[in-house]
Amino acid sequence: MKGILLAGGSGTRLYPITIPISKQIIPVYDKPMIYYPLSTLLASGIRDILVITTSQDLKLFKLLLRDGSQWGCDISYATQAEPKGIAEAFIIAEDFIGDDNVSLILGDNIFYFPSLRNMISPSFNLVGASIFAYHVSNPSRYGVVEFTDNNEILSIEEKPKNPKSNYAIPGFYFFDNNVISYAKNLAPSSRGELEITDIIMNYHHAGTLKVVKMDKGTAWLDTGTTNSLMEASQFVHVLEKRQGLKVGCVEEQAYLMNYINKQQLRELASQFSNGYGRYLNSLLDD
Ligand code: DAU
Repeated sequence: MKGILLAGGSGTRLYPITIPISKQIIPVYDKPMIYYPLSTLLASGIRDILVITTSQDLKLFKLLLRDGSQWGCDISYATQAEPKGIAEAFIIAEDFIGDDNVSLILGDNIFYFPSLRNMISPSFNLVGASIFAYHVSNPSRYGVVEFTDNNEILSIEEKPKNPKSNYAIPGFYFFDNNVISYAKNLAPSSRGELEITDIIMNYHHAGTLKVVKMDKGTAWLDTGTTNSLMEASQFVHVLEKRQGLKVGCVEEQAYLMNYINKQQLRELASQFSNGYGRYLNSLLDD
């Protein structure tokens, strides 16, 4: 299973913050936003990762994430010339995906999944697509999935004005290799984008779409607006302060997954002479 981390886009909803800098680099409490989806990929067991961003922001991402070897993973980069839609990622990533299955996570989606591995591992050898559904109060901002009483999928719509359910589709998806040809055959939507929901519809029509409702204990946070960004920072702050444990800490995740050993974690910790470094050091004693 390869992983794509999509971190392009123009971030216009966060202007002026995102005029000079990529949205996925700005902080969510104590770390850059992209650390959260990256640590979700690592925690899922995905270590071969392509970061897709804009040519303007590429340098900053390389400075921050390097080639991933410091975290025991492999990070490569590609650029998207214009924000022509999330589904274009599979066309850009064709060579990277090769003959494998692929997961896509959006660089501005934050997950707090206590049972992540159990939810993800069935998706590794999948035939078809596997996506999540999460109950929200404001579904019209998202892709929305509607179910029958027997939990069969009835409809899938992108940002419907009158949503048929409260189940939004979070930005973390698993696809088999057909995703490349589905993406290549998509027509742009009325807003001029290659829509991820159109890819999902292809799998639905082929009868190979699986939708997993996220457990109640899971948090999925969006950072698309200044309000949701503030709420995400507050959520991470409250959780970290209460538990004394970090959320979205890439170094910790790499260590927990045995991608790096104690010595490598010690070296990473020594680069930070602050609370972040002290936290990493404290993991060595556990
Ligand atoms: O957050 C989940 C939602 O993400 C899904 O429920 C929707 O189905 C999906 O379309 C998407 O909706 P958004 O309106 O939130 O997408 P947005 O345009 O904000 O892009 C999400 C991320 O993907 C963001 O980090 C920027 C990046 N992106 C987006 C586009 C359109 C790119 O890198 N390139 C693009 O062309």
